[in-house]
This record gives sequence, C-alpha cells and structure tokens, in this order.
Amino acid sequence: MLKVKKENFINEKRPHESGAKHVSGRANYTDDIPELPGTLYSAIGWSKKAHAIIKKINLDKVIKSEGVITVVTSNDIEGRNDVGPVYDGDPIFPEKAEYYGQPLFAVAASTTELARKAVLKAKITYKTLKPITTIKEALKKKSYVLKEKVIKKGEALKAIENSASRLKGNFTTGSQEHFALEGQTAFVIPQEDYDFKVFSSTQHPSETQQIIAKMLNQKSNTITVETRRIGGGFGGKETQSFIFAAICTLLAKKTKRPVKLRMDRDDDIIITGKRHDFYSEYEVGFDELGVIKGLKLKLASRCGASPDLSGAINERALLHIDNAYYLENILVENYLCKTNTASNTAFRGFGGNQGMMVIENIIDHIANSLKKDSAEIRRRNFYQKKKKNITHYNMKIEDNVIQEIFDQLLKSSNYKSRKLNIKKFNQENKYIKKGISITPVKFGISFTTWHLNQAGALVHIYCNDGSVNVNTGAIEMGQGTYTKIAQLVAHELGLPFSKVKVSSTRTDKVPNTSASAASSTTDLNGAAALNAISKIKMNLATYVKRKYKIKNAEGIYENGNVKFKGKIFKFNSLIKEAYLNRVSLSSSGFYATPKIHFDKKNFKGRPFLYFSYGAAVSEVMIDVLTGENKIIRADILHDAGKAINPSIELGQIEGGFVQGAGWLTMEEVNWKSNGELTTHSPSTYKIPAVSDMPEKFNVEIFKHGKNIENVINKSKTTGEPPLMNAMSVFFAIKNAIASVGNYTLNPHLDAPATPERILMSINNLKRKI
Ligand code: MTE
Ligand code: HPA
Ligand code: MOS
Repeated sequence: MLKVKKENFINEKRPHESGAKHVSGRANYTDDIPELPGTLYSAIGWSKKAHAIIKKINLDKVIKSEGVITVVTSNDIEGRNDVGPVYDGDPIFPEKAEYYGQPLFAVAASTTELARKAVLKAKITYKTLKPITTIKEALKKKSYVLKEKVIKKGEALKAIENSASRLKGNFTTGSQEHFALEGQTAFVIPQEDYDFKVFSSTQHPSETQQIIAKMLNQKSNTITVETRRIGGGFGGKETQSFIFAAICTLLAKKTKRPVKLRMDRDDDIIITGKRHDFYSEYEVGFDELGVIKGLKLKLASRCGASPDLSGAINERALLHIDNAYYLENILVENYLCKTNTASNTAFRGFGGNQGMMVIENIIDHIANSLKKDSAEIRRRNFYQKKKKNITHYNMKIEDNVIQEIFDQLLKSSNYKSRKLNIKKFNQENKYIKKGISITPVKFGISFTTWHLNQAGALVHIYCNDGSVNVNTGAIEMGQGTYTKIAQLVAHELGLPFSKVKVSSTRTDKVPNTSASAASSTTDLNGAAALNAISKIKMNLATYVKRKYKIKNAEGIYENGNVKFKGKIFKFNSLIKEAYLNRVSLSSSGFYATPKIHFDKKNFKGRPFLYFSYGAAVSEVMIDVLTGENKIIRADILHDAGKAINPSIELGQIEGGFVQGAGWLTMEEVNWKSNGELTTHSPSTYKIPAVSDMPEKFNVEIFKHGKNIENVINKSKTTGEPPLMNAMSVFFAIKNAIASVGNYTLNPHLDAPATPERILMSINNLKRKI
C-alpha cells in the first residue's frame, strides 16, 4: 500500500499564500478593485502653514477647475469632525492649522490627475502663528499633548549617589517614515439607504467603521469596511488611514457616486505622522563590574500636533526602558511633547524600541567608561531566572531565554576572535575603521491596552465539498497572517492547505475587532479561528455519538479523515452526512488573552502574556573621511517559539532587521524651522535598498524556542521584535568610531548614524584626544 505522508501544515516552511501574486502583480490591493461606472477620483488640499488660524478658504477656482464635480470642507461634516482614535485632536478639516500638511478640504473630479491639479488652485488666507517644531522647544514651553508621567521603583537617587561610579549624558533617536509600498488608499461605494461600502488600506477596519459612522452621524451598522490585504502598514495604517477613508466617504455621500482616494506619495508623507523621535537625559550609577545600581531618566518624545496613539506609545517606551536588564532603582519622567508637526503614530516597535535604545546607549557608555567589552557589561546586567527577575513594573519574568540566546550567538558568530581581528585591522588602517557589537532583545507581547486583547472569527465549512472559509479580524499586511491562520485551521481539521481559504477582513462578518498590531494578530485571530472550529467539531461529535451510539467520541482529524472510536469517515463524507442530518457547519469564535492585567496609574501588573527574545551581532565598516558606513556581516538568533511557518518568520526577522537598520543609520526625517517637512519623497528620504543588506547575513530561529504560555502551537510572534536586533548595527558603528580615540573615550553619537553624524562624532572625539 502507498504510504500516505502525514499532513502537518504546522511548523512547516511554506510560501506566503499570495507570494506568487505579489511578485507577478496579480495581488489585488484597494486601488486594484474594479471601478464601477461613474467612479470619481479625489485629492486633498492641505495647509501650507504649520501653525495658523484659517481665516478664509476660497475654492472658487478649484470648483471651476477642469473635471471637478464637487468640493468638501468642514461645513459638509454633520457629525464628529475628528478621527482621533483615543482622544479628539485630529480634525478632518480644522479651523486652526496645527501642522504643515494638515488637510483643509478635498475635491472629487473625473480623474485623479485633475483632482490633484484642482486642489492647488485654492486661495487660503492664514493668520500665521509661531510654530513649535522641536522637542527642546516644546519642553521649554511645556507644550504637551498629554500629562507628563513619572514612574518609580526603589530609590534611584540614593542608589546613584552610593554607586562606585556615575555617568551623565543625553541621547536622541530619530523619526522614521513608514514608506509602505502601497500608500494610503480608500475606495467608497454608496449603497441604498445612505449605507456605505468602504474599501480601505487599513490595519483597523472596525475603527474605520466607527469613525465614519460618527462623522456621518449614522449607525455603525450602515457602514461596512472591507480589506483583503494592504501593501505594508508597519503601524502607519493603525490610525492614520482613517482620515483618508473618512474624506473619501464624505465625497461619496455628497456626490452619491463611488469615489476613490489614492494618495500621491509626497502628499501621503507630508500629511501622515511617523515614528516618535525621542530625546533622553540620563544619570546612572553602577559598580566596578558595570552593574547598574540606579538610573534617573528624563524621556521626551515628539508627538506632533495631537495625542493619536502617543499615550500608549510612550507607555510602551517606559515598559521597555529595561530591555533585557534588571533595574533595581529607577526614576523616569516622561514628557509627551506637542509640536506643530504631523501627529506621530505607531511604527513597528511602538515606542518599545525607542525605550530600548536609551538603555542600550547607557550600557554602551558604561562599557566605554570602564574600557570593557560592552557584551560583558550587557551579560552582567541581564535579568536572571531565579532572582533579579522582577521588572520595574512588577512583572515576574518566567520565560527568560536571553542568556542562552546571547551565549549561543556569541559562539556561533565567533564574536570574540572577530573583535580581536577588528582591533588589529583598526591599528593597521587609518581611514577605514571597523566595529562590532552584540545586542539583546526582550519585547513584551500583548496590547498594553487591556481590552484590545480580544479577537473574533467566523468559520464556514461548505457541505458539497468540505472546503473551509475562515474570516477573522486579522489584516494581511505582508506579514503572513492569512497563511499562518490557514495553516492552523488546516492542521486542526486534518485537511490539505488548499482546502482552506481565509477571506477578506470585513466588519459585517467579524465585528468589534482590534487593529492588526502589537505583533498579536495571529496569536489573537488564529486562536479565535480555532475556537470556532472547536465548536463545529463539537456539533459533529454530538451527531456521530447520537447516530452511531459511540460513547465519549472525540474525533481525530488527520489526512482528510475523521476517526471516532472504531469509525472512520472521509472528511467530505462526514460533512455531507452532517448537513443532510441538519447539523450546523458554521460557527463564530472568540478569544481573549488570559492572565494579563495592568494598573496604568501605578504602573504595575502583568501587561504582557509573554516576551519574545533575540540577539544580533553586527559588524560594520566606516570611512573616517566621509562618514559612509556599511554592514559587513550580521548574525541573528531569534526566538519564534515553535514557529508556525519558519520561512515566514525568517522573512519577518530579516525584514525587521533591515527596517531597524534603516531607522538607526540612514532614514532621516527633517523639518525646516517653520515646520515644513523637507524629506517627503524617495529623493530626499532614503530607505534601505537591496544593496544596503549585510554582505553576510546569517539568520537563525532559536532551535530550543517554545512558548511556555498557552499560545497557538506554542509559537511566538515575529512581527515587531526582530526590528530591535538592528540596535547592534548602531553600536557597531559607535564601536568603530571609538577606535579613532583608541577606545579610551566614549563617543557621542545620536541616531540615525548618518554619514554627517558619524563625521561629527569622529571630529568631536579627535578634539578630546
Ligand atoms: N511585515 C510586513 N511585511 N508588513 C507590515 O506592514 N508590520 C509590522 C510587522 N511586520 C508589517 C510587517 C508591524 S508594525 C506589526 S505590529 C506586525 O507585523 C503586525 O503583524 P502580526 O501581528 O501578524 O505580527
Ligand atoms: N501596540 C500597538 N498598538 C497599540 C498598542 C500596542 O501595544 N496599544 C494600543 N494600540
Ligand atoms: Mo505595529 S506598530 O503594532 O502596527
């Protein structure tokens, strides 16, 4: 007999369900949805002032412009004129411009090109006010979007005072543009009764629905939002897609015609917020071995013009100020600066990485001041397993694998011998210097906003062929969640992958969903899908028990068969039989993350179900005459638990690293002093290209990985955490710079480490020797 290979579909390398479509251009994004006859195209007119009272908007020439059908302003909004997700502050069309690029009005025209031409013809009268554009200015003027926060554990000031050594310093990490391949896009089709069908490139269909309903003063059940996939979100479409979907719906309502809004790339970058840049001042006390005894910090971020998600982002920065290190005594003041720039928002890492960079920079400073290898100082400060395992927010760490990962990588990357070789190379070379660094990652998984940790699903099995349709709140943004959910479902039903289809995410199928974010999409939605399946399986078991008089029968679903005690069915036959016997083959499912709780006020609790761990060793080369830099080699060891799909996880680990390296080395967002954004196109803003990948790139999933918590398949997400492996690149550059001072001084280097900053750092160092 032919031996049938046991189908597994889990822990199995398999391509992204749309991989072939992505590369051949056959994957449909929002802009590819077939347009109905009469579709109109829109564009947004935006403020040319960063801070001004809008005295008059004269649209006479806009309305007369070729192809224009209508315009909308704040006068057309019957309900809530705001798209703020948590707090107000993000007017769709404001009375007072709070940043350069803020939308003021929009047009619908017969083509996108004509709409874009028309908006330029507006005559807007401003009363210009003085803008605040930098964190330092905002701190000076106490300009904040939300109240400052102080967190405290132990006695930081005393501990610093009593320490053998102390250091002070300051440090900045930069902003970052999301630069998703697919820009912000919406397509809205009016339905009967003023209902609207909204296609939006968003990470958050449910909140898009709510925001549009509030804007129109309509019930949520009149708005349906659908998203099949988005061409990257990276946090930039967690909330900042809302304004585009809202404006598009407003135009569709006014014209009673389908309307599309596909943003021009420059306008897209100018209108939307980016990663929060952070400024920190620190004072740290430590012992002879470099173990931190006390830490005092001031942490300020540029939130832009409104709160948006800044509260949660700053909170995540505070929650990651420890990275992988035990901090016994800390005192942190956190300021959420309001500036007249686009409202900064979620970006892979969600503030966590900004917090982690602060402590990594402090550790690097300590190592340089003690003239020790920073790897050693890092190891000495790690959380331990039996003691020193309570975080500054009072959570006990139970799944710590950072020492294993760190030590395994130190070995496999030949860190020590390479470090010696690099020192030798630097002694022999005047103009090219090399540097190396290893950094750890510990990243908390769960939304820190407790109620967001829930998900729903809707699963149907069709009676004629046993094929399965799965719908959840998960948004496919390239990260592979549809593939992973389909694998989980196929495994659970013992079916071939090809029999399971994950269909477009829609608010009328699964309601009240959270954003696909916080790296929790598959953890939450995959679990909800499995919950739905368990209910269908229960229906089937009940039927089989009744019909065949089998006691305590639990079906085993394998290789297209279902085995009950002594009775085997072909899956398809069982499904057909169940249908004919009037058994429900469809179910909703639900999941809510257990164990988590967090008291935001006292900053105590267990905000995360588990932690993801990783480490990376990067080796770089810099040119001391030009500041140019290059990653020669990167080795990453990353924890994916029991990976659901190792090839997708590897893709996330590689991509996250490269995106993080972009943030820390080459991507620089700049504003003029009047608040005008100067970096709004690929010609002025550089993201990593293939040529910027490390020449040698050794990426491995931690083989002993296993989630100790009850997470689908004992897996761990790889969404955001791998980005932070790129911290090693920054500190390798700093290490290369330090060689210019023969490793006797700590260079000052802010991120991003652009060639200019590297040169300045070298010159400062040379002045001190
Ligand atoms: N990977 C791709 N290809 N595209 C994306 O937009 N977003 C990142 C990460 N990886 C992103 C990505 C961010 S910000 C998050 S929160 C997670 O994916 C979201 O997906 P997950 O929850 O399924 O990990
Ligand atoms: N991550 C991403 N998005 C969020 C979070 C988070 O922790 N909390 C609220 N929105
Ligand atoms: Mo990711 S920043 O949580 O969308």
